[in-house]
Amino acid sequence: MNDRTPAVKAVTLAYFSGTGGTKAIVSCFETQFIKSGIHVNVIDISRGNTYHEEKASDLLIIFSPVYAFRLTTLVEQWIKNLPKTQNMPAAVISVSGGGEISPNTACRVHCKRLLVKKGYHMIYEKMFVMPSNYASQADYQINLQLLHVIPQKVTQAITEILSGKIALTKPRVLDRFFAFIGKAEHFGAKIFGLSIHASKECTQCGLCERKCPANNIKIQNGLPKFGSNCMWCLKCIYDCPHHALSPGAFKFSVLKDGYNLTEMSEQAKTQCDAEHQPSGSMLWQGVMDYLKE
Ligand SMILES: Cc1cc2nc3c(=O)[nH]c(=O)nc-3n(C[C@H](O)[C@H](O)[C@H](O)COP(=O)(O)O)c2cc1C
Repeated sequence: MNDRTPAVKAVTLAYFSGTGGTKAIVSCFETQFIKSGIHVNVIDISRGNTYHEEKASDLLIIFSPVYAFRLTTLVEQWIKNLPKTQNMPAAVISVSGGGEISPNTACRVHCKRLLVKKGYHMIYEKMFVMPSNYASQADYQINLQLLHVIPQKVTQAITEILSGKIALTKPRVLDRFFAFIGKAEHFGAKIFGLSIHASKECTQCGLCERKCPANNIKIQNGLPKFGSNCMWCLKCIYDCPHHALSPGAFKFSVLKDGYNLTEMSEQAKTQCDAEHQPSGSMLWQGVMDYLKE
């Protein structure tokens, strides 16, 4: 990263992550920026965290998972609450399970527009791919490859960002339309959250209440009760140590074997076959393209 723009001395990385995929990408950005001598301010956009103006930086990078072809509502809301600025450079990184493929290509459009309205100068956008936490996954070796390539993908992105070249995309009108329709996911999330119930395996440990990024879970009479602010991030379900939580609605969205990124990351260190060729459907074309890039 020798070609870094001297103007960037401090960078703010603001992110939301439900099940840890986006957080893993952010951690890698943090490590690599620090190694390049750039000061890093990391903000976790959950549980009402707000932007600290006093930690001003030369560049704001926003990271969010892709939910229904757009970035998370929490991130959009956070941008809306940012103070106005004048031409501060900004970048948006989306993290999806499916890659830069239609209609995901339009997922960053709304956030970019919100940032421009706040006076930010958009310089960069990029899709990262992590093992999907939703409904279905590519085959396991592909998941391990996705974890294996994180450092090199981050190096590539940082080099591009610091080169000073503007790198923005223009998605198709139809994809923008799907991203607009994706807003309905917000209502689906409410129904999903309200439908989650605890089985008798629940030990009332309170982990779900403490970790819910939307503060949507309260332990009442010893059992978790879900409010109407669920974001459908799936963290409570996958992280429950007793597998005691399950939804009554939209059951298809939860992976039957659960989602444990820490475990997968450990396996990626020893069991990743970088030459593995995928088997299976066109559904994962965006993932294949990302690995080949
Ligand atoms: C409610 C929901 C909707 C999702 N929608 C999409 C989608 O439209 N396209 C996609 O590629 N991945 C989708 N995903 C998968 C996530 O974007 C992906 O697994 C991401 O890495 C999750 O990030 P996290 O681990 O930081 O929460 C969705 C996941 C959830 C929970």
